[in-house]
Amino acid sequence: MPDQALQLDKDNYWWKKAVFYQIYPRSFQDSNGDGIGDLKGIISRLDYLNDGTTNSLGIDAIWFSPFFKSPDFDYGYDVADYCDIDPRYGTLADFDCLREEAHRRNIKIMLDLVVNHTSHLHPWFLESSSSRDNPKRDWYIWKDGKGKGKKLPNNWRTHFFGPAWTWDEKTQQYYLHSFLKEQPDLNWFNSEVREAVGNVIRFWLNRGVDGFRLDVAHHYCKDKQFRSNPPFFIREKGKDRVKSSDRRLMANIMKLFALPTFQIGKYNQHQPETHEVLREFRQIFDVYPAKTSVGEIIGEDAALVASYYGKNNDELHMNFYFELAHCRWQAGAFRRCVERWERNLPNDAWPAYAFSNHDLVRAISRYDSDGNGDKRARLLMLMLLTFKGTPFIYYGEEISMKEVKLSKKQLKDPPGVKWYPLHRGRDGCRTPMQWNEGACAGFSDVSPWLPVGPEIGRRSVAVQQNDPHSQLNLVRELIRLRKSLPALLEGSYSSVTEGVSADCFCYLRETDQQKVMVCVNFSFRRQEINPGSLNRESKIIFSTAPEREPQKIYFPLTLEPGEGCIIDLGMEK
Ligand code: GLC
Ligand code: CA
Repeated sequence: MPDQALQLDKDNYWWKKAVFYQIYPRSFQDSNGDGIGDLKGIISRLDYLNDGTTNSLGIDAIWFSPFFKSPDFDYGYDVADYCDIDPRYGTLADFDCLREEAHRRNIKIMLDLVVNHTSHLHPWFLESSSSRDNPKRDWYIWKDGKGKGKKLPNNWRTHFFGPAWTWDEKTQQYYLHSFLKEQPDLNWFNSEVREAVGNVIRFWLNRGVDGFRLDVAHHYCKDKQFRSNPPFFIREKGKDRVKSSDRRLMANIMKLFALPTFQIGKYNQHQPETHEVLREFRQIFDVYPAKTSVGEIIGEDAALVASYYGKNNDELHMNFYFELAHCRWQAGAFRRCVERWERNLPNDAWPAYAFSNHDLVRAISRYDSDGNGDKRARLLMLMLLTFKGTPFIYYGEEISMKEVKLSKKQLKDPPGVKWYPLHRGRDGCRTPMQWNEGACAGFSDVSPWLPVGPEIGRRSVAVQQNDPHSQLNLVRELIRLRKSLPALLEGSYSSVTEGVSADCFCYLRETDQQKVMVCVNFSFRRQEINPGSLNRESKIIFSTAPEREPQKIYFPLTLEPGEGCIIDLGMEK
C-alpha cells in the first residue's frame, strides 16, 4: 500500500510548519454509544479539524494519546499490546481508515510511544514475572530485597505515590515501576528490549504514521548501580533548581500527610545512556522520509532538556519545555522562560510549545483565579501560535474548555482517586469534547465516561462557530495568519524590552523579507509600547481585542487592557 502522505507532502520538515492538535481518544467523539470516544468517532470529526477550507480549524497534524490495547490502569499509558488497537477504540482496520482519511485532508498522524514501561499485563511482563530464569526476566528491572527483612533495594519513589518497587511473591524479588505498580519499567540496557521496541516503531512507520511523541523519555535508563536519590529539598550545586513554589507545596503536603521525603530524580532519570536509545530511535526514523518525534522530557534545567536534541541533532526532532506551563501570569516570567529555552537550544534545534495537555490543569483555568481566565486564554493562544516553534493545541483549548470540577465519586484517574486526598487527579482536563449544547455535548448519546463540563452554552463548537469574536474563531484566524506569514512560520525569535513596561511581553519574529512584532499586555491597564528604534509606519494585522480594526500605526502604540496584537513592522527602505 503506497503511503499517501509521502505523495501529498514531499517536505521532510513539514513538522516545523505544522500546527499540532492533541486528541485524548477517550474523550473526543463516541460513535457507538458506549460513552467512550473511539476511532470512528474521530474520523467523523476530521472535517472540523481540517476540511481544506478556512471554515475548519486548519490544523496539520494530530498527536493521539494512546489507543493501544490496555487494561487502563493509567488510561492507555499502560500498554498491553503495542501493535494492536484496544477494542473499545476500534480495530487496526479502523486505524487504517483514520490514517487514510487524515492524510486525505493533509493531516499527519503522531502516535504516543509509551515505552519507559509496559502494562503489567503485557505478555513481555507476564513472561518476565513467570520465573527467575525466564528468557525475558531481564527485560524488566528485578532486584533482591536487602537483608533478611527484604528491605527495598533503594529509596526511589514513583511519580504518583509510594516506593517505586513492588515485591513479587512468586519469584521473591522486587520489580521497578516509576509510575503505577501496574506499569513495570522496561530494562533499556537489554538489547532485546531495544530491538523489540525498534520493531514496534517500524510496525507503525510501515503503516504510515508520521511521527511519535515519546512518553517520559528522560526516564528510560536508570543508574547501573541503583544508587538512592538525594532528598528533594537539598539543592545540588549547579544542578536543577528546585522551584520555590514546588518546594513550598511539597513541604506542605509532606507535613499534612506525614509523607516520607520527596527526592530529586538524580539516579532514575536523565541518565546519559538514554541518549543512546534516542539516537537509535532516530536512526530508525531516518530510514523513512519526513518522520518526526517530540519528547516529553521533564526537567527545570533548560540545558538538560535541550540536550535531548542530541549533540549532532541526532536525537529528538522536537522537544517541549514544560516550565512554560508552570509560569505565573507575569510578562517577565513568560519572557524569561522562552528566552531560557531559546538560549539553551542547540543550533538548528526546533522547539515545540504547549500550554495544556492531558496531565495539566487546563491553562485557561490555571490563570483564572480572578475570573479573567477567558481573556488570558486569548493571549495564550496568541503566544502559542506566534512563538518560534511548533504549537500543540490540546483538544478543547480552541473553544476555551475549562478544567471541570469533579466530585470524588466521579474521579477516574487512579493517582487522583487513590492517593492524593486533596489533589483531584487529571480527570478535570480530560472531559468530553464539547461539540454542541446537547445533553452529552454532542460527544455521545449516553452518559459519557467523565461528565461534560458546565457552560456548554458558551464553550462549545456549535455556539462559537457563529460568533466572530469567539475563542474558536480567534484560534482559526491565528492559524490562518501563521501560515500566511513567513516571519511567524520560520523567522527568528528575539525579545523586545526597550520601551516595553514590565507588564508587557513583546517579541520580534523576522526573516530577511519580513519583520513582525507580537505585543502582549499581561495587565488590565492600558500600556504604552515605545521601542525607540521602531518609529516607522507599521500595521496592526491582528488583535485579541474585538474592537480593534486592522490599522496603520506609528509608535508609541497603546495596548488596551489585556490586549495582544501582531504588528507587521514592514522592512527598512
Ligand atoms: C506521561 C503521560 C502521563 C502518564 C505517564 C506514565 O507523563 O503524559 O499521562 O501517566 O507518562 O506513562
Ligand atoms: Ca465508543
